[in-house]
Amino acid sequence: MIILKNERDIEGMRAAGAVGSAVLEELCAWITPGVTTNEIDLHAAACIKALGAKSAFLGYRKYPCHVCLSVNEEVVHGLASDRRVHFGDIVGIDVGVLFEGFIGDTAKTIAVGGCDVLAQKLIDVTERALYEGITRARPGNRVSDISHAIQTYVEQNGFSIVREFVGHGVGRSMHEEPQVPNYVDGKSSPRLRPGMTLAIEPMVNAGGPAVEVLRDGWTVVTKDGQPSAHFEHTVLITESEPQILTCPEKKLLKSRVK
Ligand code: MF3
Ligand code: CO
Ligand code: CO
Repeated sequence: MIILKNERDIEGMRAAGAVGSAVLEELCAWITPGVTTNEIDLHAAACIKALGAKSAFLGYRKYPCHVCLSVNEEVVHGLASDRRVHFGDIVGIDVGVLFEGFIGDTAKTIAVGGCDVLAQKLIDVTERALYEGITRARPGNRVSDISHAIQTYVEQNGFSIVREFVGHGVGRSMHEEPQVPNYVDGKSSPRLRPGMTLAIEPMVNAGGPAVEVLRDGWTVVTKDGQPSAHFEHTVLITESEPQILTCPEKKLLKSRVK
């Protein structure tokens, strides 16, 4: 069942989205060559707490960290450790917060200091693929129109789409119906309706699409060891234009942060 959000729910989703994106922006600005992923996770925990929110990931199916940090060939769900990030690495940062009963889910991949041309192209193509998908997120379309736009853009640029993990509805729970794949599988998919809130999140590999899960039970890596990137926004379907709920809203945050 797809849960449509009413006006009050939408205001709740907007607030949670603003908190999530504020945490993500702070982490992106804070990460510097030489810090460990444990230190990044600790800083994330402090930011989430300072904003009066909780990590939506910590304890989710026993996930042990506050945010997901995925370095280079890690695709998603990377675990914080004493690993240092170095100049030239790319880091996927996925932030999920629970704020006043609603979830904000947003992710971004950044270069630490700088990175080579291929990794930068991977980052740029993945981010633009997300916006290609978001543009299609309007009534009259189906979920598969989002999927198709993302897949086409990524494959035209010579990269590949991860199949095993997909976007999703999001609301009071992190994962609601419908699934939002980043590829088209030929099955019919739901029509988009005003009041749906979707986490759209392409995971894009520089090499082949195959991934595997490490023995830690969480970290997803590319099978060929090539880098991978991930971007995600929580998006509201309206009567007309889609609205991105995970954009930083400084005023809203200022009024809420003590
Ligand atoms: N943030 C992921 C998503 O975008 C889910 C992470 S689940 C966790 O759907 F347990 F790894 F945190
Ligand atoms: Co996420
Ligand atoms: Co998500």
